[in-house]
Amino acid sequence: MDIQKLVEQHGNSRVNLLSILHDLQNQSEDNCLYMQSIEELSEIMDIPVAEIVSTASFYTMFSLKPRGRHLIRLCISPPCYVMGEENILEAIQEKLGIGLGETTEDKMFTLEGSSCLGACGVAPVCSIDDEFYGNLTREKIHRILDQVAAEEGAVSERN
Ligand code: FES
Repeated sequence: MDIQKLVEQHGNSRVNLLSILHDLQNQSEDNCLYMQSIEELSEIMDIPVAEIVSTASFYTMFSLKPRGRHLIRLCISPPCYVMGEENILEAIQEKLGIGLGETTEDKMFTLEGSSCLGACGVAPVCSIDDEFYGNLTREKIHRILDQVAAEEGAVSERN
């Protein structure tokens, strides 16, 4: 990954740091920000490593740890909890065999708990990558996970 080129595309300015980190993470094999990339970025942008790490740690969309290709964020805030978030967590655990903060062995899914996703009206809610899913039931989340896995299979068959 050519970090210098990425910085040039966005413009070497602090205001572009978040979008640069976003692209950097999207281009990584493990859906995360590697320390080595952060160090290189620090040198190119003349921003201290600690500042980049603290920015990346502040936003839940970034991870400094390897993650699966699809990120499931299950809202664990009180309104979703009251509407049955625990059942959805159980259903995901049943289906994928992972708990919060874990990644499936095939690196397809990582499951994270999230604070309010801003869709309390359709609680319980989760997001998978950039999509939001509400009014979740055990059956619905199983179906969605099957669909995401099937779509990935279809993409890799096309390539
Ligand atoms: Fe779950 Fe707001 S509390 S989306």
